[in-house]
Amino acid sequence: MNTRTPLIAGNWKMYKTNAEAVETAGRLVELVAGTSDVDIMITPVFTAIDPVCTVVKGSRVGLGAQNLYWEKEGAYTGEISADMLVSAGCQYVIIGHSERRQYFGETDETVNKKIGAAITANLIPVFCIGETEAERESGNTFSVLDKQVKDGLKEKVVEDIGSLVIAYEPVWAIGTGKTATSDQAQETHKYIRSLIDGVFGTALADSVRILYGGSVKPANVAELMAMPDIDGALVGGASLDAESFSRIVKF
Ligand code: PGA
Repeated sequence: MNTRTPLIAGNWKMYKTNAEAVETAGRLVELVAGTSDVDIMITPVFTAIDPVCTVVKGSRVGLGAQNLYWEKEGAYTGEISADMLVSAGCQYVIIGHSERRQYFGETDETVNKKIGAAITANLIPVFCIGETEAERESGNTFSVLDKQVKDGLKEKVVEDIGSLVIAYEPVWAIGTGKTATSDQAQETHKYIRSLIDGVFGTALADSVRILYGGSVKPANVAELMAMPDIDGALVGGASLDAESFSRIVKF
């Protein structure tokens, strides 16, 4: 048995107005009130973070953002800093999601800077990695993950990366209804943990939480969570509904 506390994280993406976000968060707070031994996080859009913070304060539900910019402040129109997220009530931030890599030019280099900025500001980074379908089919899954992990965490980013969370999300499983089998996911998670061991040592490899993401639903979460190297889930579609997300939290 490991001592890692599972983390069930909801990625709300670009969904929900403020009123909708507050409603879902309020319902979720009620539904997960009796849970223990699991960390829970939701990530509303930037504009809904503040009103959702009021709703989740003091509850089982933690709050995060979906992105940040690595500079502290300045003339960077449209961006938001780690300290600003903290001041709005965030404890977590998703970094390097495949949709940001695909549509917004995120690279391993920008991901590296963002992870550093998050940790420096005491935000827990949820660092996303994963291979595309073509990369898996050509047998390159492990080499792709190797590069994403090593470049994303290059030069150890900051001295203490103890709070780091990794989310393994095969791109072909996101929003497609195709999930990696629990054996496929376990094999990959084990590989990612061995990568961390090789670069940063056994203490971090043992403590780092590695979440699985990609079409996680109430119906498949238990099987995934039974795997020794799967420490939680990053959930998109099924996190938008408080009922279904709470069932995932109670896997
Ligand atoms: P999904 O999304 O659960 O809808 O597949 C996961 C994610 O993008 O984080």
